[in-house]
Amino acid sequence: MGWNKKALVALIGSVCMAGATTALAGPSAKAMADTCAGCHGTNGQSIGPASPNLAGMSASYFIDSMKGFKALEKDVQHADGARPATIMNRIAKGYSDEQIEAMGEYFEKLGVYKANVPHDAAKAKAGAEVYESACAKCHDEGGSLPGDDAGILAGQWLPWLQFSMADFKEGHREMPKKMKKQVDKLSDAEIDAVLNYFASQK
Ligand code: HEC
Ligand code: HEC
Repeated sequence: MGWNKKALVALIGSVCMAGATTALAGPSAKAMADTCAGCHGTNGQSIGPASPNLAGMSASYFIDSMKGFKALEKDVQHADGARPATIMNRIAKGYSDEQIEAMGEYFEKLGVYKANVPHDAAKAKAGAEVYESACAKCHDEGGSLPGDDAGILAGQWLPWLQFSMADFKEGHREMPKKMKKQVDKLSDAEIDAVLNYFASQK
């Protein structure tokens, strides 16, 4: 049985097809990300109040967060690198590292979204000063710079910001050392003010 050119081309074609199918096996990043919309909103634009916007966060922050959720064991809030969660630990476990990376790149490309968040304008104004002295160094541009790899705080829902800060302050989630140094200096009122400041960012 001799090979002719036509058969060879067909064979190469089918090998390429098989390669392509393997590379694309499983759902696309968009299809996976769409399953998050019930809580995080269409295109990662949360309609609040307890789920954060995912749109525009850096892929590396997204990946660290998802791996942190995955690492969370039942009843162990503090395992190395683990992040406390009410629900995300169960959700994150359903995805491979490759799928998490694909979703991270997808959300990053959507660009930062700042929700129109109800907040107290007077507190936000006072919070601007706290922000400048205690948070701006790491949460640049009002907390909207993905490259800081410190999450997106600008235009996040106030209850979400408050839950995050409570997790840190109560020791459920490990605070970066230098952030803790700043946070420990602030009164509850100052923290409340600066969270209103982040929520107010448009
Ligand atoms: C049932 C609601 C729900 C669904 C569905 C959901 N999330 Fe979440 N997500 C939350 C909540 C609530 C939090 C805050 C952490 C917690 O309490 O679990 C959160 C937090 C996160 C964070 C941390 C963001 C930050 O700024 O620190 C990421 C990343 C995330 N979710 C990704 C996803 C992805 C990706 C999907 C879909 C595959 C998804 N979530 C589906 C509710 C949900
Ligand atoms: C020395 C740098 C630094 C300073 C100063 C700092 N932060 Fe952070 N912050 C970080 C980093 C890094 C993270 C991400 C932590 C992680 O990966 O778990 C973070 C995370 C957060 C989060 C959670 C975001 C999320 O998506 O889950 C909140 C809320 C927050 N910071 C608020 C503040 C506030 C308010 C201040 C000022 C009082 C402040 N930070 C000062 C570095 C800093």
